[in-house]
Amino acid sequence: EKGTYPHYMLKEIDEQPLVIRNIISKYQDENGEVTLDDEIRHAMNAADRIYIIAAGTSYHAGLVGKQLIETIAKKPVETHIASEFLYNMPLISNNPLFIFISQSGETADSRGVLVNVKKLGHPALTITNVPGSTLSREADFTLHTVAGPEIAVASTKAYTAQMAVLALLAVDTAKAQGIAVEFDAIKELSIVATVMEALCDQKEALEKVARDYLSTTRNCFFIGRASDYYVGLEGALKLKEISYIQAEGFAGGELKHGTIALIEEGTPVIALATQEHVNLSIRGNVKEVAARGANPCIISLEGLNSENDQFIIPKVHDYLTPLVAVIPLQLIAYYASLHRGCDVDKPRNLAKSVTVE
Ligand code: F6R
Repeated sequence: EKGTYPHYMLKEIDEQPLVIRNIISKYQDENGEVTLDDEIRHAMNAADRIYIIAAGTSYHAGLVGKQLIETIAKKPVETHIASEFLYNMPLISNNPLFIFISQSGETADSRGVLVNVKKLGHPALTITNVPGSTLSREADFTLHTVAGPEIAVASTKAYTAQMAVLALLAVDTAKAQGIAVEFDAIKELSIVATVMEALCDQKEALEKVARDYLSTTRNCFFIGRASDYYVGLEGALKLKEISYIQAEGFAGGELKHGTIALIEEGTPVIALATQEHVNLSIRGNVKEVAARGANPCIISLEGLNSENDQFIIPKVHDYLTPLVAVIPLQLIAYYASLHRGCDVDKPRNLAKSVTVE
């Protein structure tokens, strides 16, 4: 039930700190070490390449998951859109492991790939919020994201939960391979939960951003580099699906290859700056769009911020910035939808679980 909340989406955004804490308690042992499942660890170890398959928001979590697994566990990963993989299958390695990410566990596009993968005899792991779901039953292994029921069509807490579980999977895989892991995932995720709480307390400031930038615009662009690019894709998806504003996420460096032609006087451009190694270059991109009339809104991480940034996120570990950077984007999308009189929880033309290909 949504209780005193006006919408499920707002309730589910606010639940994210609790969800992260639930994931920590589920996946740590009595010594406070990350522990998943021996069979999953074995399958991750045996794989020469990981193929992540998902749709929509879960695909965006998969993009971050690729980075986490490659960086922490040094294993090559490819992330694919399920519906594309179905008809345009890449060359598969000798010992692949397929990971399906799905909130509902019922997405037909992902299931289509799973059926093919099982025919080929490859192992599959499903990361889902619904353990009894089709994708969970038909895969060899399941990791539960323990986010609780997600009712709003726009996915929020399921996405951050997926990324948290992927971070733990990366750490577990690295340890099993004897790779020294400096990153204390349990500690860093609890910092993430605390920062999420602080961000959820910033609703007024984020409502103001939505009002100032998005009340009447017909389009909005999100730019970022590295993981900020992936979070920008997710921010754009949230905004388009519930406010019907044409929103797109772009890699900062790609602007000059075409997209910058779309910038007009007053076009809102939401720029993410949470990664030190790309901080200067993304700020360069902000200057480029501003010089062409854009109305930039910079969301940055504390320590990388400049004085005039519109919103500053408290610091978290570099690997985990997507889990916190998305929160302001979820809230901005929520308020944009609200201000524009849209149906926040049940946007037009969309279903919560897409069981047709
Ligand atoms: C966006 C959204 C969709 C789903 C997509 C996959 O807010 O909810 O893009 O992420 O339909 O659904 P699952 O994760 O259930 O496979």
